[in-house]
Amino acid sequence: GREWTEIGALGADLACRVVLIRGVAQTIRPVSKKMAFVVLRQFMSTVQCVLTVDKEFVSPHMVKFATGLSKESIVDVEGMISIPKDPIKGTTQQVEVQVRKLYCINRSVPNLPINIEDAARSETEFERAELTGEQLVRVGQDTRLNYRVLDLRTPANQAIFRIQCHVEDVFRRFLRSEGFIGIHSPKLIAGSSEGGAAVFKLDYKGQPACLAQSPQLHKQMVICGGFGRVFEVGSVFRAEDSYTHRHLCEFVGLDVEMEIKEHYFEVCDIVDRLFVAMFDDLNENCKKELDAINRQYPFEPLKYLRKTLRLTFQEGIKMLQEAGVEVDPLGDLNTEAEKKLGRLVREKYETDFYILCRYPLAVRPFYTMPCYDDPAYSNSFDVFIRGEEIISGAQRVHLPELLTTRAEACGIDVKTIASYIDSFRYGAPPHGGFGIGLERVVMLFCALNNIRKTSLFPRDPQRLVP
Ligand code: 4AD
Repeated sequence: GREWTEIGALGADLACRVVLIRGVAQTIRPVSKKMAFVVLRQFMSTVQCVLTVDKEFVSPHMVKFATGLSKESIVDVEGMISIPKDPIKGTTQQVEVQVRKLYCINRSVPNLPINIEDAARSETEFERAELTGEQLVRVGQDTRLNYRVLDLRTPANQAIFRIQCHVEDVFRRFLRSEGFIGIHSPKLIAGSSEGGAAVFKLDYKGQPACLAQSPQLHKQMVICGGFGRVFEVGSVFRAEDSYTHRHLCEFVGLDVEMEIKEHYFEVCDIVDRLFVAMFDDLNENCKKELDAINRQYPFEPLKYLRKTLRLTFQEGIKMLQEAGVEVDPLGDLNTEAEKKLGRLVREKYETDFYILCRYPLAVRPFYTMPCYDDPAYSNSFDVFIRGEEIISGAQRVHLPELLTTRAEACGIDVKTIASYIDSFRYGAPPHGGFGIGLERVVMLFCALNNIRKTSLFPRDPQRLVP
């Protein structure tokens, strides 16, 4: 095959060289019958291709053909790299391609439902346009999601899903280096795994079943199976009724479960080191992606400490009360209170990332271990980025009698989870773990305002297509 160059790799070092590139026609600008510009885009990069009629390569017919291309068509260009005298506005690459050959590989329809340049504009651009009277079209979220294959082509979206892949990658690499092994738990299960009504029910060959709300029960059973430390990356299904900026009906769960030797803080230590490694890695290795997101959705870089701050729930309640917020010391924090606490923590400790531990037992799932010194509290924690929850975790009850009592106290029909409870009758080690929402991590690391921005094809209470 011939040698292809990525548009993002086109630079001054290739001056006077002939390259072969494939991209999408982003803008087509006729200048005269003898000259035209075509901007090609690939991933997060764009380059200007120049057609000038000459004796050797470019005919007037070819210029006419190029100016007749429809936006977003797939185009191959062979041409020589040149360095223009003045800086090029509107493209990422600062070189031009002097076109010698141009092929349209696949034509797009002439009237696109979304103009990618409009879809890629920042709020600042719209505000500026309003002042100057320029007419710019805002692309609404529903339109974006209806035509997601087009919307995904914006540089910010290209960057978001590269960052998501990176988060997943660091998660796996870090845990593998700590002796964890990757597992896949079943997604078709007999009953709810988190309690509550938010399950998608289905018919399993005549038997009632549901889509797993989390790998919770099975990842614990794998620990009972003697694997010591496990993790999973997999789809999680929640029949959410709430239509919010942070809930999806299907999301990607990054789950961890591990034996505990002495204290559930061993689980928090993993969270701490995993996320410091992840944030460092993103800042170091995803600069281009973070810049692309910043251009459309400007955000302040995440503040985090070398050793993650740990506060107790009681300390959090006290901070809120001192700030005049009314909170129930044994109830759960609502979204508003969590956000407020995030701001207070940032002011006092200069971090956007922290662990809140020792939650009241009453607000945690049945499998959560009560505190040994005060059973009104539990060996559990939530983790927050910019005041919003990304993780919940805990030590689990590994004693079958206590587990049965706790399940009954939480109104669960123990018959439905009998095989799970039985798993703890054959010698089960103390253990704990946590679950991370992947879309939330990316959303909050980049301070995006909606979880639908970090899901390729979001599933929410109102959306099942595309
Ligand atoms: O807090 P959750 O429900 O906890 C569990 O599933 C436990 N089994 C975890 C454990 O190991 N103890 O979910 C864990 C994380 C949340 O912190 C949040 O980031 C994300 O999953 N999450 C959602 N993300 C998107 N849409 C939803 N509807 C979510 N529900 C939870």
